[in-house]
Amino acid sequence: MNTLKGSDIHAAKSFLDKGEVVAIPTETVYGLAANALDETAVSSIFRIKDRPTYDPLIVHFCDMEQVLQYTLDVPENALLLARAFWPGPLTLILPKKNTISDLVTSGQKTVGCRMPDHPLSLGLLKSIDYPLAAPSANPFKYVSPTTAEHVITQLEGKVPYVLDGGPCRVGLESTIVAFNNDIPHVLRLGGITIEALQEIVPETILRIQHVPNSPVAPGQLLQHYAPTVRFLPIQTKNNPTEWNHNEGVLYFKCPESLPEELNSKHIKCLSQTGDVNEAATHLYSKMREFDKMDLECVYFEWAPKEGLGLAINDRLERAQSK
Ligand code: TXA
Ligand code: MG
Repeated sequence: MNTLKGSDIHAAKSFLDKGEVVAIPTETVYGLAANALDETAVSSIFRIKDRPTYDPLIVHFCDMEQVLQYTLDVPENALLLARAFWPGPLTLILPKKNTISDLVTSGQKTVGCRMPDHPLSLGLLKSIDYPLAAPSANPFKYVSPTTAEHVITQLEGKVPYVLDGGPCRVGLESTIVAFNNDIPHVLRLGGITIEALQEIVPETILRIQHVPNSPVAPGQLLQHYAPTVRFLPIQTKNNPTEWNHNEGVLYFKCPESLPEELNSKHIKCLSQTGDVNEAATHLYSKMREFDKMDLECVYFEWAPKEGLGLAINDRLERAQSK
């Protein structure tokens, strides 16, 4: 199959209308999208991603009216969060109607609902009359793509079209929130911070569990989002002043004076100024760059424990667990 890349919503639509899978840009990461109402198209997503069918897909909608068409008994606090953050990097786990098939949700009675804040994907969603099931457009367990080029590198020949919306503005996946008796539980840290959620619903709690390998806890697999090269916290280095040529370093903030022993191409920084939002945008591309360098390991610096720093540290922890 020939993979085309471009920013033509009509081209993307015509592949999707035929039941094909198309990579789409969002503000968080690129997604691998298909008609959520077409089981054959949805199975193709699992096949292309090499993703086990026990890991449910989230569904992308163009507006609230469409979300309410496919969900039931939406909790009051979910409506408040949707009003505050949609379109935006927040996925709400809501009870589903039968029109969303069990294949999409891996048999769960809930569906992950998201409204992406990207003009191309929103324009595409408005141009079609079905929602789009879309996981991140990476092979299962690898880090998510944040540019169209990342998608092409891994999925060339497997999808007919990559809708190119440029580099993703946020760079980390959406925050996932489930509800238990109307209380929001954060299952995955992402583009909307816990502080921001608590400003709208103060009772919001964090319920991240990292399980090594379990189909009963969707989204909680520890090794999701991990690069191939070994990542270790910089604090674990025995002799911090001696560096080997086969070691990389990922600083959160660029140090003013860099250790001279380090070959400069082995040193990368997430942010020039120590800004967590800028750092989030760069995290996955830096991980991919290190993966191409044939290093033994990469020592990383943790992000500050605030705002998006918590989501960055969550991904670094998963990278470390590999
Ligand atoms: O930012 C994002 O959320 C991106 C873009 C493309 O929208 N999508 C994304 O999808 O990250 P994915 O499939 O890579 O991650 C979604 C996570 C999965 O780990 C899945 O297990 C979890 O959401 N999930 C999906 N439906 C769920 C449900 N009904 N209950 C609990 N977790 C669910
Ligand atoms: Mg993913």
